[in-house]
Amino acid sequence: MQDFKGRVAVVTGAASGIGLGATERFLREGMKVVMADVEKGSLEREAGRLSAAGGDVLPVVCDVRDPDEVDALAKRTLAHYGAVHVVFNNAGVGPAGPMLDTTPADWRWIVDVNVLGVAYGVLAFGPILKQQGEGHIINTASEAGHVSSAMLGMYTATKHAVVGLSESLYRELEGTGVSVHCLCPNLVRTKIFHSERNRDDGASMKPSQTATMAPLREAISALGIPPDKVAGDIVDAMRANRFWIFTHDTTKKALVVRAADIEADRNPTNPYAGLAVVEGLENLARHTEGRSS
Ligand SMILES: NC(=O)c1ccc[n+]([C@@H]2O[C@H](COP(=O)([O-])OP(=O)(O)OC[C@H]3O[C@@H](n4cnc5c(N)ncnc54)[C@H](O)[C@@H]3O)[C@@H](O)[C@H]2O)c1
Repeated sequence: MQDFKGRVAVVTGAASGIGLGATERFLREGMKVVMADVEKGSLEREAGRLSAAGGDVLPVVCDVRDPDEVDALAKRTLAHYGAVHVVFNNAGVGPAGPMLDTTPADWRWIVDVNVLGVAYGVLAFGPILKQQGEGHIINTASEAGHVSSAMLGMYTATKHAVVGLSESLYRELEGTGVSVHCLCPNLVRTKIFHSERNRDDGASMKPSQTATMAPLREAISALGIPPDKVAGDIVDAMRANRFWIFTHDTTKKALVVRAADIEADRNPTNPYAGLAVVEGLENLARHTEGRSS
């Protein structure tokens, strides 16, 4: 698709960060945007702001962990705008901490949001796009969908899943008119490392998890690129019909290190050696004592 004017986009995780940045960019392209998010307060605030500025937006409270809510989102989109052309499966959460300190409930939460939330978006909207013979599905993975860091094991696992899901989907929809894209950013200045706010099962972070979040929050505010830059990369990739959306030069370099390790039958090299935040996380990992800590 080259001209987005008058088209309809659905964005999950639209109340903050990358989803909000994409919503703003899609509006500037002349699109109408269904803004879906689990956080009612910020969703209504941001949708109200954008609507007051002349944007055609429809805020829908939707928890992507629930397939019925995602199906209802698709029905609501068609009922309100009569069509859908761009689906951005972007909602995600970013808990961190030593793998041995994680609990089954931690895993269920992150897999439900980061993996199943994307899958439900594909199931609810994919058939509509395929039947009309045009559209874009953009799934948010991460650089962590390709390479691994200490202390981000759950996150890394879910993002590898989104990369695999998206590549398979690309192959299945090739030639149908529906383009699939996989967004793989490194650090973007958002609230991803405050995502415990999105958790509703009453679980609180362990000291080792809190200790991990501190350097990550510092790194994201010091090194993160603005969400608007990511939104521009998404629109460029849709226009170019390009599957991969890499927002940082570091990603391909890290991928090359990983491929070279595999080629040489070598154990995983740290592709980020020397980067203060990563060294800090590896140090924390070496001093963790497991689930009892
Ligand atoms: N910020 C980064 O550095 C970075 C890097 C790579 C990938 N990502 C990915 O980008 C995506 C967007 O995150 P962000 O960085 O903008 O963070 P963010 O926290 O600013 O935004 C995430 C949004 O998702 C929403 N959300 C969380 N759980 C939800 C649920 N169950 N149902 C519906 N909405 C839910 C939140 O309310 C929030 O509005 C995520 O998938 C994240 O993993 C972020």
